[in-house]
Amino acid sequence: MTLSHDRPAPPCAIVIFGANGDLTRRLIVPALYNLGQSGLLPPRLALIGVDHNDKNSEDWSAALHDFLEQSLAKGGEGALAKIKPEIWDPIARAMTFFKGDFTDDGMYARLGQLLAERDKNENLGGNVLFYMAVADRFFGIIAGKLGAAGLMQQGSGFRRLIVEKPFGHDLESAKQLNACLLQHMHEDQIYRIDHFLGKETVQNIMALRFANGLFEPIWNRDRIDHVQITVAESIGVEGRGRFYEQTGALRDMVPNHLFQLVAMTAMEPPVSFDAEDIRAKKAEMFKAVHPVTLTDVVRGQYDSGAIAGEPVPAYRKEPNVAPESGVETFVAMRILIDNWRWAGVPFYLRTGKRLAARATEIAIRFKRAPYALFRETPVEELDADWLILKVQPDEGIRLRFNAKRPGQVMALESVAMEFRYKDWFKQAPAVGYETLIYDCLIGDATLFQRADQVEAAWSVVEPVLKGWRNVNPRHFPNYAAGSEGPTAANDLLARDGRAWRRIR
Ligand SMILES: NC(=O)c1ccc[n+]([C@@H]2O[C@H](COP(=O)([O-])OP(=O)(O)OC[C@H]3O[C@@H](n4cnc5c(N)ncnc54)[C@H](OP(=O)(O)O)[C@@H]3O)[C@@H](O)[C@H]2O)c1
Repeated sequence: MTLSHDRPAPPCAIVIFGANGDLTRRLIVPALYNLGQSGLLPPRLALIGVDHNDKNSEDWSAALHDFLEQSLAKGGEGALAKIKPEIWDPIARAMTFFKGDFTDDGMYARLGQLLAERDKNENLGGNVLFYMAVADRFFGIIAGKLGAAGLMQQGSGFRRLIVEKPFGHDLESAKQLNACLLQHMHEDQIYRIDHFLGKETVQNIMALRFANGLFEPIWNRDRIDHVQITVAESIGVEGRGRFYEQTGALRDMVPNHLFQLVAMTAMEPPVSFDAEDIRAKKAEMFKAVHPVTLTDVVRGQYDSGAIAGEPVPAYRKEPNVAPESGVETFVAMRILIDNWRWAGVPFYLRTGKRLAARATEIAIRFKRAPYALFRETPVEELDADWLILKVQPDEGIRLRFNAKRPGQVMALESVAMEFRYKDWFKQAPAVGYETLIYDCLIGDATLFQRADQVEAAWSVVEPVLKGWRNVNPRHFPNYAAGSEGPTAANDLLARDGRAWRRIR
């Protein structure tokens, strides 16, 4: 994780595979622009876009410029200010569109020549960052061909590779992909992205836990009753029906995003902020997670309903979705971490599409205070205290606790103390990829996943994937769009005498 944002990244070439794609246009290039605004882009840069679409460098840079301008006009992704020519122009000058097919060996030889040329002309020190902004079926192919062409060999400069999500679709495929990558490069050249880790509030979980004397002593099974982690979306599959039919909510969200939130919440304190120390603690935590059984998981699929008063169709009526689809758009699960700190403290996770609101939060419920003192008063039950880390929207931290209601009788009410990031900090415009790209340019792997972490995460959900493969869900669809998910998700917690927080 970047601890000081005060030096530009070293000179280098960035090669984006998938230059004409959605991710490049919507997130990577705006992130580079924002890094330029913060003075963090390399002082000497070559930006090479590889794609099979017919374009030249001028078309490419003009299309990216127009997209950036439009997103500004809409106040969309990243809330960028007006495009500043002094920031954009050097980026545009660095751009080269390189037409080629990812599967063509000859392309890599030509790419190698171009890189050597740019390196010599711009004095880039031999540094190259390859970014695979492509469908996951190409990850192994591109890595293999980069390796075979000798482009991952590090001399005086670095050679690094960013791998987008999804990293595998089950344990076996994740292992195969790791093996393929490691055949052609070293682990420290691989940066497996999880864009949740680019979010300030996720990184701030570590600051909250480890920079305050207040929380760490109560961060354990003695004081915490359970933890609820919610990643709720109100949007549906947004035209990505074909992708979602192959993926589903479990694969799309749980082993990566949700488990990263679990890791940030549950890992032991690292001895330093060094990437390897932090990654080792996360890996240790994943090893302590019990494999999940089918009885600890609920799946759901949205029916038609209403979002913000507007009618929306059922998942099965979305474009490119099978009319009898058995793919889940919601998943809730209970996991247990079998270590000294967390034994007996369930972590309940849920994620879904077309839910009542867009909300990502980690809610920590503390054990109730003993009731004895209030026995002779009208207080019937003591509410438990909650610490809620809001990741999006309205990023912040909220503490709920009991206070006496003013008056002659002893009556209690649950009240809240709230801290909102936007009230305290002036935030630089960001699309969420800035930190990740910058960290990769300076060689800080803290926010990226190591091979063992990825495999450990898949191992946890593997029994569920296997179990679901054999049992087709007969009760789908089982929750209305705009609701809080299937009733079976409530039963999962009711079984333990607990209840979900409202999604709002
Ligand atoms: N988009 C997002 O918001 C988002 C968010 C998080 C993660 N991701 C991940 O980022 C990656 C890229 O996603 P994306 O949405 O940007 O994909 P995309 O829009 O399909 O972009 C891929 C680009 O590669 C081109 N391409 C396809 N096959 C090629 C080949 N054989 N040779 C050369 N070029 C080829 C495509 O051209 P054609 O389309 O003309 O074939 C397209 O321009 C995926 O792994 C995705 O899971 C995306």
